[in-house]
Amino acid sequence: PRKIYLSRHGESMYNVDGKLGGDSELSPRGQMYAQQLPELVRKHLGNQNLTVWTSTMKRTIATAKNLRYPKKTWKALDELDAGVCDGMTYEEIQEKYPEDFANRDEDKFNYRYRGGESYRDVVLRLEPVVMELERQENILIVGHQAILRCLHAYFFHDKHEELPYIKIPLHTLIELTPRAYACEEKRYPLNI
Ligand code: F6P
Repeated sequence: PRKIYLSRHGESMYNVDGKLGGDSELSPRGQMYAQQLPELVRKHLGNQNLTVWTSTMKRTIATAKNLRYPKKTWKALDELDAGVCDGMTYEEIQEKYPEDFANRDEDKFNYRYRGGESYRDVVLRLEPVVMELERQENILIVGHQAILRCLHAYFFHDKHEELPYIKIPLHTLIELTPRAYACEEKRYPLNI
């Protein structure tokens, strides 16, 4: 059966600072993940063919850099747009936009950042990616937290209320095996 692999990009400088969004470089730990990812993939995939999809952001492209497979970049895989909150920490958002912060907590799936997106928006924007994913063989998506939550929810039919809280940790390769009636999931974390 064919496999779909999901991985967040390696830790970014913004991750280290607790800032949302942006287009920052990988941290030293993130670079180590990028170095070790090819070996981790090969260990589980063997010599099979694979195509690697990334977003257009530096951190996913840098994470996929050492993977010797055909690649495609998708704008539709870019991280959820936090609009006016892009580049802020959660503390800064709570201070500057307390109502927004509370509203997001109230309904995280539907909350749309000012000038940005909601999880619901992202689910819609991912439709072409999902369509293409259904037609392809082995694919590895090097993506972002919110994006991978939406893709996970597509395969596991996670509820809208739960989707924005699905745990997609850094430095972990997630292996999905879609089958006729259910999808199988395995997780391979790297200790970096
Ligand atoms: O913190 C990393 C990040 O990818 C941000 O860029 C993004 O806004 C956030 O995660 C999404 O997670 P949550 O919806 O839980 O804030």
